[in-house]
Amino acid sequence: MLDTPKHSVTVDHSPAKARSVRSVRNEGTRVAIEFTDGEVGRLSMRWLRLACECETCGDTASGKRWLTPADIPADVRAASIEISSAGETDVVWQDGHASRFAAGFLAAHIGQAGDLGAPRFQPALWSSDLATRLGRFAFDAVVEDDEVLFHSLRALRDHGIAMLTGVPAEPEATLRVAGRYGPVRETSYGKVFDLISRPDARVAGETARAQIPHTDEPFRYSPPGFIFFHAIRTGAGSGGTSLMVDGFQVAEVMRRNTPELFDLLTRHGVIFHREHAGEVFFSAEAHVLSLDPRGAVTGMRYNDRCLAPQTGAVDAIDGLIEALAELTRLICDPQNQFQHQLQPGEVLVFDNQRVLHGRTAFDPTLAIRHLRSCNLDRDGVHSAFRTLARRFAPDEAETVLYQGAIF
Ligand SMILES: [Fe+2]
Repeated sequence: MLDTPKHSVTVDHSPAKARSVRSVRNEGTRVAIEFTDGEVGRLSMRWLRLACECETCGDTASGKRWLTPADIPADVRAASIEISSAGETDVVWQDGHASRFAAGFLAAHIGQAGDLGAPRFQPALWSSDLATRLGRFAFDAVVEDDEVLFHSLRALRDHGIAMLTGVPAEPEATLRVAGRYGPVRETSYGKVFDLISRPDARVAGETARAQIPHTDEPFRYSPPGFIFFHAIRTGAGSGGTSLMVDGFQVAEVMRRNTPELFDLLTRHGVIFHREHAGEVFFSAEAHVLSLDPRGAVTGMRYNDRCLAPQTGAVDAIDGLIEALAELTRLICDPQNQFQHQLQPGEVLVFDNQRVLHGRTAFDPTLAIRHLRSCNLDRDGVHSAFRTLARRFAPDEAETVLYQGAIF
């Protein structure tokens, strides 16, 4: 078995969790906040001045901001800082400007902009063990109940994948439920795409051949965000088992076992392309693994079938190919795969910039396999999560999420 990756533990990702403040102290260039548990953190005075949300300075959340970073003198200082009985923080600046911060504001931001270390969302990684943790949600509940929808969005945030059940076979049903998660993206393949095995296959999804787990359309500058796979007809017993792989888990295995190959995938460009002559010709050069500023994996793109002949210096290219080979070996390793035989009415929803999907071969003479698919933009799905988190889990609404295959 694989070691349990470090990231498999979901840590406290709630920067806004209410902590009680015992005192605040003006330290000139810093404001020190002492919590009732004895911990002390500091925020920059320049940061605090820029965060003012009075009518003159403007409101951050809605984007109607008037104060700019250039308006804040580097040596800005507070004349006084006080916590009111209602818990608000009142600051009077040396130039007389007054700022009032909502109760809990300093505590909420000390971890994000202060010196206590920013809590970032830590995805819950999985391998072949996903079945016990996979979130399953009924179509009717997701369509009618915002709280159930929120829980499914949270499952998508945590695992990058969730299952919907009892989805009717009509095309409107696919769009109706997908539309609950965000705007459906129209591409050159249309808005809803029927993948039916057929002899004159135009894309590999229409053949009966096995497919190595991959992310879809890495040849786009911005690949599809979330993908819905709605099973209309499946050839139970004739193969066609879905193979799902957590790309983040596989990346952490590479980081641990072959750090030099992991490193190459984060900084060497890889070209993916797709051409249907006379119609479309997509080509994108990007990193297979995107990292956030702290080095955490934030997105992945990889599809062996779309790899172009790669470019690079002759003494670097073999290393790149070995890195791609190692990645391919890992995603083909059953220990890293969640395997599932889709049943009619089931929908697999997954983050296409984290989770790779593939399937075993099947016998097209025994059964017709029909999946209906559509794509959603990734930021639209995370926006739906944050919007509902304001209602159902306010502590989680402002956590920084992993932002996908950003380069
Ligand atoms: Fe695919």
